[in-house]
Amino acid sequence: MANEKTADYGPLELLIGTWEGDKGIDFAPEPDEDATSPYYETIIFERAGDVDNADEQVLSIVRYHISVRRKSNDETFHDQVGYWLWDKESQTIMNSFTIPRGLCVLAGGNFDIKKVNDPEITFDVAAKLGKEWGLVQSPFMNEKAKTLEFFQKLTVSKEELSYSQTTVLDIYGRDFDHTDENTLKKV
Ligand code: HEM
Repeated sequence: MANEKTADYGPLELLIGTWEGDKGIDFAPEPDEDATSPYYETIIFERAGDVDNADEQVLSIVRYHISVRRKSNDETFHDQVGYWLWDKESQTIMNSFTIPRGLCVLAGGNFDIKKVNDPEITFDVAAKLGKEWGLVQSPFMNEKAKTLEFFQKLTVSKEELSYSQTTVLDIYGRDFDHTDENTLKKV
């Protein structure tokens, strides 16, 4: 990895910085009554340069950390680290991340190069168990709280970042759409 300062981050450039939002809504599974939790969130995106793969593919890299706290008690109830990656040549975008439950996600999608300088940019990525854009999880999670699919739509401009995402789970003997959305401002 190299070129933190000079890499061409393309559409990822708008992400870089620190974002805060207090309009988060989480819908998560519980054994009896599923729970809706309003949340606060901080996301930090940092330039991480670019990387060459097999002497052919160049990916620009933005590293991130998400921290989410429940409004009701101020406790952290979701933590996530990952990378957004952009492949200019193939017009591909990726969100590769891990959640500290024993779960890794590599979600991908297309990004139209013609939109690279738009003031507002949308990334659409998805992953599905057993596919190339896929998921890996621990034996416990595979058995008890399996993630089947993940979809995310994230829109970013100079001042505002918003997203909505769905994580499809197989938990407590049923399929469940675990959803999250928030709108954050640049700080
Ligand atoms: C803002 C984002 C998110 C928040 C606030 C959040 C919060 C929660 C909460 C409250 C639960 C219920 C279990 C518990 O009380 O700890 C849960 C379960 C779960 N979440 Fe999330 N989550 C988020 C995003 C994600 C994402 C992106 C994934 C994976 C792609 C994920 C995977 C899971 C899994 C596998 C479970 C089942 C574990 C269980 O309920 O025992 N979550 N999440």
